[in-house]
Amino acid sequence: MKQASIAVTLKVTTRLILLGILLASATSVLASGSGHHHHDGETSAHMQSMLAVKNDIPDEYRIMERTPLYPSETSLQQGRELYMQNCSGCHGDEGNGKGPSASSLKIPPANFLDKKHSAIYGPGEKFWIIGNGTDETGMPAFSHLTPSERWHLVNFILHFQEEAEMAEK
Ligand code: HEC
Repeated sequence: MKQASIAVTLKVTTRLILLGILLASATSVLASGSGHHHHDGETSAHMQSMLAVKNDIPDEYRIMERTPLYPSETSLQQGRELYMQNCSGCHGDEGNGKGPSASSLKIPPANFLDKKHSAIYGPGEKFWIIGNGTDETGMPAFSHLTPSERWHLVNFILHFQEEAEMAEK
């Protein structure tokens, strides 16, 4: 009995430490950023919830560095259609997080054009979040979308970000 509870305590402690490390690194990423993207209200509460989401995501998605579906014209086109049907209401037509339903949410929908914010989740994590939703930040689950449809969406979101970056230069 005693050993079991020590094991549990250890597990919880490890998780907390991991979360702490993640938080510290994310905070420094934000702090070192250009600043103008983040009004001071980009609260640590929002950030903490985002990092808590990471704890739910299985390792195999966390370590993925790219999508397994090539972002061809067809993939991006399908991603765009799915996005306009399912996502733009919250994340906005332009991906800026300012869709018509955004204001009713406790945590604002992610602004995909804010690359620093969005980079907290890699491609595999985005895929997982779309399929499973998040309790911590209130992103709904789209479990009815097929894996390919979800990868089209991730391709499309990453494309948004590239386009926005190009426009800035
Ligand atoms: C009801 C509003 C709502 C809808 C509809 C919605 N989202 Fe979200 N989404 C959120 C909220 C709230 C968050 C959490 C905020 C954050 O992570 O900064 C979020 C976060 C995310 C994230 C993680 C943040 C990031 O930048 O990687 C991804 C990816 C995402 N949404 C993709 C989608 C896709 C794709 C769809 C459509 C299939 C969709 N969302 C539909 C509200 C919504």
